[in-house]
Amino acid sequence: MNIVNKMKTDWNRRAEHHAQYWIATENFHDDQKFSRSGEQSARVLLTTIAPYYDPSWMVLDIGCGIGRMLKPLAPHFRSLVGIDVSGEMIRKSKKWLHGLGNVKTLETSGVDLRPFPSDSFNLVYSYVAFQHMPRQVFERYLEETNRVLQPDGYLAFQIPIGLHRNAALGDTIGIRNYSREEISEKLARLGFQLVEERDSKTITGKKQIPIEKLPFILAQKITTAMPDHVTDWVNTDCEKEFSLLDTRMWLWFAEQCLHEGRQDEALRTYKSLLEQDPRSLENWSRIVENLIERGQTKEAQETLEKLKGALPTYTKLNALLNTLK
Ligand SMILES: C[S@@+](CC[C@H](N)C(=O)[O-])C[C@H]1O[C@@H](n2cnc3c(N)ncnc32)[C@H](O)[C@@H]1O
Repeated sequence: MNIVNKMKTDWNRRAEHHAQYWIATENFHDDQKFSRSGEQSARVLLTTIAPYYDPSWMVLDIGCGIGRMLKPLAPHFRSLVGIDVSGEMIRKSKKWLHGLGNVKTLETSGVDLRPFPSDSFNLVYSYVAFQHMPRQVFERYLEETNRVLQPDGYLAFQIPIGLHRNAALGDTIGIRNYSREEISEKLARLGFQLVEERDSKTITGKKQIPIEKLPFILAQKITTAMPDHVTDWVNTDCEKEFSLLDTRMWLWFAEQCLHEGRQDEALRTYKSLLEQDPRSLENWSRIVENLIERGQTKEAQETLEKLKGALPTYTKLNALLNTLK
């Protein structure tokens, strides 16, 4: 599986599981809280662009999710387009943004902005999305943003600035950190000029900032970039990459459910986790334990039978253990 398919598979699975959790982890419990988080993030963006803002702008949101920010931003701009690699996020965005005539969302490849001609937008923004993408994908989006922005257009984006941190190509949730120098170099090379140097404390992450109020970096397009079309990484195989953070986030959700007495949802979450990582004995045992606790012994037995097929080593070890008895 290449990176495009991996991003689509992983983010579709997350969107099907619980889109709002995977978008705004701390604010997923109810729609009102989720809406409020969108309003707060929108306010951060509006404050960042305030000195240059024009309501006639055409705006693009990269990695829009279900449109958490598009909704509160809609009254402030002429038109807005949200794109996302996940078709399932986009399907859900239609419901979340229902009735907003100046907002459109669409599923795209996850590596470029092909549906849009050059010079289409005045402002491109992205929030808590670039940080989950491989460096190559982020850079490709910067190139593409330069192309689709009008001359002098603005790019506002959130990215963690700090000590260099990377993740495997196929890790679609792991956080990538960038040094200030790396961001400055990329922006300069790709035709942008930094507009605003934000307070270094907020940007370097030394101060704990709630997820919905992370700062944006603001840059302006000053020249047309010469894109570098070397994209070999698109074909690299990354099927088996499943990160620790991914597992932790699925488990945290399931544990929350158990804590709140939502057993069915916990079980559904464990099953989803198992589908993604069938070699994990721990995931199998979580499901079996959960079924036993609920008195579903028949289903627990069937699950153990399936385990034999999925993990032949487990059966082998069991057989060896029996010979020792
Ligand atoms: C944490 S969510 C944030 C959603 C939205 N920006 C918000 O703040 O509400 C990250 C989003 O980025 C999307 N995404 C991840 N990789 C992407 C890519 N390569 N291209 C476009 N969208 C991507 C995911 O599907 C997901 O909807």
